[in-house]
Amino acid sequence: ASKNSYRIASVPGDGIGTEVVSATIQVVEKLAKTLGTFKIDFEHIPWGTEYYKQTGRYVSEDYLDTLRKYDAVLFGAVGSPDVPDHISLWGLLLAIRGPLQLYANVRPVRTFPGTKCPLNTATDGIDWMLVRENSEGEYAGQGGRSHVGQQWEVATEVAVFTRVGVERIMRFAFETARSRPRKLLTVVTKSNSMRNGMVLWDEVAATVANDFPDVKWDKMLVDAMTVRMVAKPGSIDTIVGTNLHMDILSDLAAALAGSIGVAPSSNLDPTRKNPSLFEPVHGSAFDITGKGVANPVATFWSAAEMLIWIGEKDAASKLMGCVERVCAAGILTPDLGGTSDTQGVVDAVCLEVEKLG
Ligand code: NAI
Ligand code: MG
Repeated sequence: ASKNSYRIASVPGDGIGTEVVSATIQVVEKLAKTLGTFKIDFEHIPWGTEYYKQTGRYVSEDYLDTLRKYDAVLFGAVGSPDVPDHISLWGLLLAIRGPLQLYANVRPVRTFPGTKCPLNTATDGIDWMLVRENSEGEYAGQGGRSHVGQQWEVATEVAVFTRVGVERIMRFAFETARSRPRKLLTVVTKSNSMRNGMVLWDEVAATVANDFPDVKWDKMLVDAMTVRMVAKPGSIDTIVGTNLHMDILSDLAAALAGSIGVAPSSNLDPTRKNPSLFEPVHGSAFDITGKGVANPVATFWSAAEMLIWIGEKDAASKLMGCVERVCAAGILTPDLGGTSDTQGVVDAVCLEVEKLG
């Protein structure tokens, strides 16, 4: 068999990011070794708050060129109690997403073995695919502050929507919906009160839909969508929305499916000009940092999505099978009601992986 060989940039970042990334590297290296069908090298990159305290920057000066040398990036989390969150997030994660044009943030959400969906669903839980616009919108970084500290201080946060930006994420979302059995897409906006950018979204959705006659689609205002997610979860399959709206809805979706501790995400450049970045949805979780109890499943699943993206679909589904068997056996971290620690889950998954050999 031919051996495909990959170089992955490992950027664990801060807090439990370092714990879940090292957990994931152990598991993926074990998988590669056991299957013997591909080779994977993780190269550690120390960007994050410690790096910032030493150098005044969250990333190196040539960080984009550095990342471009890799086939993909495995990311942990960024954020520290002693640095304002907007400094850390813009310093690292948002400094990568925009410039590398990782415009599609894909977040599969499904009720995982060992987790409990708090809703009354006809099936055993939720199975959704969330697509978040990841390069513009409310997080475009447009805005400013003047008259700082005065009563008449002004602060603006301008949402930026371009036709190019909306159309490419809309096409991506319709393609994603088409690739799933139900072929069902909901376009989320707020085009009643926001009468410019959100109306552009509606118009682009209607135009792109013409190219996907086999996909059923509807649109929802974001506030009503929160109700539908809770009250009629079975009516949903794929969802697309703006950077801010889907940031919020994806946390809600993760909680509805069972836990933020299992929610993965892919930050994709669908043109494949740049390496894509894979990370758990959760952040650096100050409250449990250093305790060794972070749930590594979200990062395992993110790594599986990474394997699919770089071309190792079979290895990815084997990995997910192992993780699901471990969770179904009740080897769970405390966030899921279990008594295992992070390393306990890693060891159990590695044992399952060994059985593949
Ligand atoms: P968070 O996701 O870090 O934590 C929220 C809650 O979920 C906490 O109670 C935490 O213990 C729990 N939790 C999260 N991941 C878990 C896991 N794997 N296992 C078990 N429990 C888990 O969100 P929060 O507290 O709002 O933010 C903390 C820091 O992380 C902030 O600096 C924030 O800016 C940053 N952040 C970074 C993100 C990223 O790097 N992509 C995403 C979200 C937040
Ligand atoms: Mg978020």
